[in-house]
Formats: sequence, C-alpha cells, structure tokens
Amino acid sequence: MATSIALARKWRPKSFKEMVGQEHVVRALNNAIESGRLHHAYLFTGTRGVGKTTLARILAKCFNCETGLTATPCGHCESCQSIDRGRNPDLIEVDAATNTRVEEMRELLDNAQYMPVAARYKVYIIDEVHMLSRSAFNSMLKTLEEPPEHVKFILATTDPQKVPITVLSRCLQFNLKQMRPDQIAVHLSHILKEEQIVYEDNALTLIGRASQGSMRDSLSLLDQAIAYGSSEVKEEQVANMLGVISEDYLYQILDALSQQDAYNLVAIAQSMADRSVSFVQALEDLARLIHDVTLLKATKKAQDALGLSDALLPLTEFWDAQTLQLLYQIAIQARQDMYLAPDELSGFRMALLRMLAFTQKDVVLSQSQELKSESSKKKQLNEPVLNNNSLPPEKNPHIPPSLANWPELVTRLSGAGMAYELSRHCQLKNFAAGHLHLTIDPSQKTLLPYQDRLQSALESILDMDIKLTIELIKDEGETPAQLEEKKEQAALQEAKYSIEQDPLVRTLLDEFGGKLIESSIKPIKND
Ligand SMILES: Nc1ncnc2c1ncn2[C@@H]1O[C@H](COP(=O)(O)OP(=O)(O)OP(=O)(O)O)[C@@H](O)[C@H]1O
Ligand SMILES: [Mg+2]
Ligand SMILES: [Zn+2]
Repeated sequence: MATSIALARKWRPKSFKEMVGQEHVVRALNNAIESGRLHHAYLFTGTRGVGKTTLARILAKCFNCETGLTATPCGHCESCQSIDRGRNPDLIEVDAATNTRVEEMRELLDNAQYMPVAARYKVYIIDEVHMLSRSAFNSMLKTLEEPPEHVKFILATTDPQKVPITVLSRCLQFNLKQMRPDQIAVHLSHILKEEQIVYEDNALTLIGRASQGSMRDSLSLLDQAIAYGSSEVKEEQVANMLGVISEDYLYQILDALSQQDAYNLVAIAQSMADRSVSFVQALEDLARLIHDVTLLKATKKAQDALGLSDALLPLTEFWDAQTLQLLYQIAIQARQDMYLAPDELSGFRMALLRMLAFTQKDVVLSQSQELKSESSKKKQLNEPVLNNNSLPPEKNPHIPPSLANWPELVTRLSGAGMAYELSRHCQLKNFAAGHLHLTIDPSQKTLLPYQDRLQSALESILDMDIKLTIELIKDEGETPAQLEEKKEQAALQEAKYSIEQDPLVRTLLDEFGGKLIESSIKPIKND
C-alpha cells in the first residue's frame, strides 16, 4: 500500500511555502526574519490541527539553518535534517500537557543559560503551554524576562485565555485560522495525486466538511477512508464511513422538488432507507444545501468565498428567496420533530412531501383562488403554515394528555398576568410523577420570580398538585411566544403571496406599473 505511515506525519509541511493557509502569519514571519528583526518569544494560538507545531518547527529551522538565518531553510544541512527527524540537541520540545511539573520545567529552563551545542540558538518549543502549572509559569517567566541572547521561545496553545497575561505580554502572538473545507479538499487532492491514489472530488468535499477546520483531522479521516475503500477514495464509501449522506441524494431531492415529482421524491427516500442512512443527518445536510442555495441566490460573491459548488447555480433559479426560506424551515423543523414521527423514514418522507406541497405552483394557485371567495378567506389565512409544534406529542409517555399540547395549555393561562408571560417563554421538557419540568432561555430569566404564581395557576387549571422546575437552557426548540410570532409571519407570507397572485393585482402591477407596498399587507385575523 502506498501509505504506510500516517499521512498527517508524512505530509507535515517542512517549509513556509508548503503551509496551507495562514498566509498572514507566514508573511509576518518571513518579513521579520528577512529583515533580521527577531523576537525572543513567539506564541502561536489556534484550534487543533491548524499548524501550530508545524510552524514552530519551521521557525526553529529558520533560526538554526546552517546556511544562515533565513526564511527559507535549506532542509539539507545537519541542523534542518535533525529538526525534521525530531532529534536536534538545540531544539528542546516540551509538551506541557504531559510535563507540567515545576521541577522538570525548572531543570529545562536552568539549562537555557548554557550555550547551544551546535547551532546559533537554543530553541524551546513549549506546546500546549496553557497546561503549565502556575509555579512552572513563574519559573518560565524569569527566563522570559531576561532571556539569554542565544535563547528563543516558541510557545503554542489552543487556549490562550489560560495563559497568564505576564507571559502573553512578552510574546509576539500569532493567531492561526481554522482551515476552510475547500482549502482542505484542495490539499487532500494534492496529496492523493502524489500518493497515486484514485479519488472522487466529492469524497474530499465530505472529508473537508467533517474535519471541522482541522487539517490533522482531515488527514486522519483520509487515512481511514483509504483503508475503508481499499486504496480508493470514493464519495459513497466516504459518506458511509462518515455517516453522512451522499450529496447525490440531496441534489436528486431538490431536482425532484423543482420538477414537482412526488413519485420520484418518495422513491429517493426509499432508496436512502435501503442504504440505512440516518434521516436526521439527511435533514441536516438538506438544510445545509438549501442554506447554500439561498446564500448563493442572495449574493453570488459567496460562491468563491465559501467554496460553494457550481452545481448549486441552477438550483438558485427554481425558487424565490421566500420559498427557499420555507424549505429550509421545513427541513430544520422536521429534524427537530423527528422523535415525534412514527419512524424516521415516515418523518423524512413527510418533510419532503411538505416541501412539495409548499412549492407546488398549482396547489398554491388554487389556494389563492379559493381565497377570493369570502367564505374561505378567514379560514385559509388563519391556518398556520407551520404548526407542527402543536402536533400532539403522544409519543412521550410521561406527558399526560392535558399537558400534551403545551402551547395550547399556555393559551388557557392567558388571564394569569405575569405567570402567563412566563409560561409563554417556556418550553415543556418533561412531566413525570407530578413533576413538571420546563426550560427557559437565559435571556428571559427576569420572568423567573413569577414561578410560584405560574405553579398555582397551572395547579388550578389542571386541578392537581404539581412540582414546577424551570431550568435555564439556551433556547433550542420553540416557545409558545416564538411559535405565535412564527404563525404571524407565516400568515403574512401567505397573505403576500395570495395578493401577488391575484389576477387583478397582477394586472395592476404588470400593465399599469403599479407597486405593492409590502408593509401594508396584513393577514386577516379571526375575531
Ligand atoms: N496549515 C497547514 N498546512 C498543511 N498541513 C497542515 C496544516 N496544519 C496542519 N497540517 C497537518 O496536520 C498535522 C498536524 O499539524 P500541527 O501539529 O501543526 O497542528 P497543531 O496546530 O499543532 O495541532 P494541536 O493543537 O493538536 O497540537 C501536520 O502534520 C500536517 O500534516
Ligand atoms: Mg501541536
Ligand atoms: Zn538548513
């Protein structure tokens, strides 16, 4: 097999030129070295696998290359080679994550006073420096305050917040950026070509996304993918390996939607089920794809900046921005409500059919024609477009029927003043053995003093004793207050749409150059 050692190690950049990204850091270091302006302490910060240790080693070579101080170390001299091999007597690498003891640190730093063995500088690379104990920091600080001429410190950390300010202030600090998925994909494709391994571009896109900004993670995923696909890197296998959904499916879905092909939509869902994909993941990926299409439609500039594929371009033509918002909403809502669905396939299929229902031109048209008859007007406009939050959560056995529909119960509290306000901003988490567990977003915590009142109000409505707990949790689902706002928005969208589609309005707009004043459109409310 072509790769016997881990790719991340084999492909660690040996020069600034080989680094992917981090141009801002590379440029600054280059200039400083070329002009001979050296600091005695550098600090590289950034999340894992973005090149901190790699840069530290390259910088050490710059300091000590036998060709002289240089931003382009030769890579051949004894100094460069032994640094690359990890065996250079003048490069002391400490991993603070494993070496946090003061005595060890002190011993290491005591040695700083001695001259380097062979090179110009004695270079200390202290990785994960935030892990040093306080006393170890203090002992390092002494050396940092009066560093001998022949000593250079290169510190690296994923967590600069934990590094004492006294240390930070003595370092020249560089913040490394996370790798973008497209940067990762390009780098991986370069490596695979060199390794003569067959691959599909889409497979690399998937790995690029899954690596969450870490080049190292992307390379270990690539190692796995090569093993998994017996020396080939194919989209479908990588998708399987990562538990993600091949983009093909997602494009097929949007394509079928654009053609309003219900039969095909159902067939695609079925074939996904046959491959036992995770439908929760599929909804997430679909939401991401719709997001990308929406973004691209809003600004074509996003394409390069975010590395969006050309394949998205045709999709921006099918739907208007509002419909895309709706599709996105349906995807994330269905994902959130998956636990309520009879099974994952049904939940997914319903989401697709719902998307279809909201994009079907004739359906929408016939609805809006119906709207013109007085009798159906009110009914239509007041039917919320997205009211799946009020689906009865029968699936949760701990919630008794009277509590099953929390938003509905909340409306019954509407006479309860501040207790009602509090309830409107809460979500139902659980109800078991008389214990009602609600959650509230921390931004609404000023309502918490009304908890006792809410408890009594609920007790009298439900006619039972309850123990009420309200937990502060960052908002994830939807509170009755948000739901109400959303219903209003949806009704407004519907109203706008039906007005725009009204033949009379159309004629006014098209033939007489009329303009719709959007802010004047209001949904008709029931009394
Ligand atoms: N900017 C980059 N360009 C090319 N390869 C990179 C880059 N960053 C990381 N790598 C790859 O990832 C591997 C790990 O990188 P490195 O050890 O420099 O990461 P790090 O930022 O020190 O991560 P950690 O915080 O986990 O120590 C390298 O051997 C290299 O293969
Ligand atoms: Mg490192
Ligand atoms: Zn050299």
